Amino acid sequence: MSRSNVVERLVEGLKRLEYRGYDSAGVAITTDNLIDRRRAAGKIINLEAELAKNPLNGNKGIGHTRWATHGEAHAHNAHPHSSDKVAIVHNGIIENFADLKKDLQEKGHTFESETDTEVVVHQITDFLTTNNDPLLAVKQTLKKLHGAFSLVIIFKEYNDLMICTRSGSPLVLGYSEEDIYVGSDALALAAWTQDLVYLKEKDLAVIKDEGQHFSVTIYDEQDIIVERPHHQSRLNIDAVNKGSYNHYMLKEIYEQPFVIGETFNSLVENSTHVPHVIRETLTQLPLAEVNRIAIIACGTSYYAGMTAKYWLESYAKISVDVDIASEFRYREPLITQYDLVIFISQSGETIDTLSALRLVKEQNVKVASILNMPESSMARESDYVIQTQAGPEIGVASTKAFTCQLLTLAMITLQAAHAKGHLSTKKLEEELNTLLHLPSKILNVLQHDEAIQEISKQFVEKRDVLYLGRGTNYPIALEGALKLKELSYIHAEAYPAGELKHGPIALIDHQLPVVVLAPYDKWFEKTLSNVQEVIARGAYVVAITDTKGAALFKNQGMKNTHIIEIPIENHMLVSPIAYSIPMQLLSYYTAYFKGTDVDQPRNLAKSVTVE
Ligand code: F6R
Repeated sequence: MSRSNVVERLVEGLKRLEYRGYDSAGVAITTDNLIDRRRAAGKIINLEAELAKNPLNGNKGIGHTRWATHGEAHAHNAHPHSSDKVAIVHNGIIENFADLKKDLQEKGHTFESETDTEVVVHQITDFLTTNNDPLLAVKQTLKKLHGAFSLVIIFKEYNDLMICTRSGSPLVLGYSEEDIYVGSDALALAAWTQDLVYLKEKDLAVIKDEGQHFSVTIYDEQDIIVERPHHQSRLNIDAVNKGSYNHYMLKEIYEQPFVIGETFNSLVENSTHVPHVIRETLTQLPLAEVNRIAIIACGTSYYAGMTAKYWLESYAKISVDVDIASEFRYREPLITQYDLVIFISQSGETIDTLSALRLVKEQNVKVASILNMPESSMARESDYVIQTQAGPEIGVASTKAFTCQLLTLAMITLQAAHAKGHLSTKKLEEELNTLLHLPSKILNVLQHDEAIQEISKQFVEKRDVLYLGRGTNYPIALEGALKLKELSYIHAEAYPAGELKHGPIALIDHQLPVVVLAPYDKWFEKTLSNVQEVIARGAYVVAITDTKGAALFKNQGMKNTHIIEIPIENHMLVSPIAYSIPMQLLSYYTAYFKGTDVDQPRNLAKSVTVE
């Protein structure tokens, strides 16, 4: 809500949120007893073209970029949805929309989209027609909705009014001298205000044009007027540009030496001074007392958790369970007061992970979260927050956030091992010194960019790719396969190399490239035998290994094998982080040569705030 035209700012804000979804976009304004809107299928660039053809002006408006849930990615399903009384933007899912829609249709409402959102439009319109009270109509509607959602609503006959509310999905208010902003992420507002108020679960805010100023009244779940604290955002929008890189993803891959160094510095005081002192962020974790650690996350973050299981069990002798959040939350998990539950999320907003976190908190068990976004829902709801220093990650496929999560988990492992008495102070110092030099090791791996480009060219036409790894590099193989799938749409699977003979070996023929992660570690000899087995069956192998490993591969005179030699010594904490880099580059270049949309692959969204 502003004193000047908001449409350009709405579009600018949507661009900062495009990573959330890019199936369609739209804006609507309310002015002089009128609601007017522009919408377009596809990315925001299409909405800009539509606005160039049919400009829109107004001081009060809403905008949305959509990740399709109910209804295809067409303009008619794009938000804002509107009736002759209201227009709405909505994140999340209205789970009981089918029942509500049926009732409303029976009352004579006609729908123009397949979305769940449109029932909210008609439900508010229905109440408004009888009571002429916008606030009451919204409150009555909210009582009927099931699911997770955030909503912002404008009214045709009440141009001085905007109502927003959240239940499950995030929503933040931004205050500036002149204007009031509302967004689902602080990043969307960062260009205009740093003065933020995060709405709490089930809060409803009424923003009103009082003539001289705008007022904001927040009601809590009990319908009582409340004050919520103001936060100063530290987000820097300058960090959000591609620089000279073709894609955000490549830029983010190349930022890793720096952000890994920054993450290390954030966890260790005076990181270049010996002895290293681990900061309170980690020392305050109740690691000495715990019997068991449960790690919960989704997607790439889940693979970071899987890697940490190997580390924590080996170094700290703590039993670790790793769960996919969407499974954990629905399977009556057993958690006790003696457990520490660690959540991992880049965005801090993934609804499956957030819901699992709430489930654990309901059982009065303390939770720690490893997050990249300090201003996220999970950050606000966790007992301990360990923030990675990856900075804004715009490429939809996670790269630098993942390796920073791994480094953070490696640090937790060392702290836990020391606290439990399984790692002497001298050994801890040696391990920290190794991690201190991780950035230069990553720089070294990045020098293999061109060799990986050449291999990627051979992957472009492939239908399937198999990834193999053992031990700590098994989760990295899984991550490699996920990255290839999401970016290049090539089917990829990862297996622990030892599991191959129990079924997947049937897939092997001369068409199938097999990527093997094989540092010279305690699993190396076994992996080498597995590689022999796939070569014997005609596969083409890309082996990623170190100098010792490369010599042994060559010794065995393996045919059809392309070796990428990463000249860094094997180390249990370093190797999975270092071997993630070739996985990222391989997927990036395969997608690049194939010509897919690297930063915004089809069907995906960066922050998955629906179930
Ligand atoms: C893949 C990827 C996703 C995310 C997953 C969880 O490249 O980025 O698999 O890791 O959606 O997201 P966060 O970490 O934000 O909870």
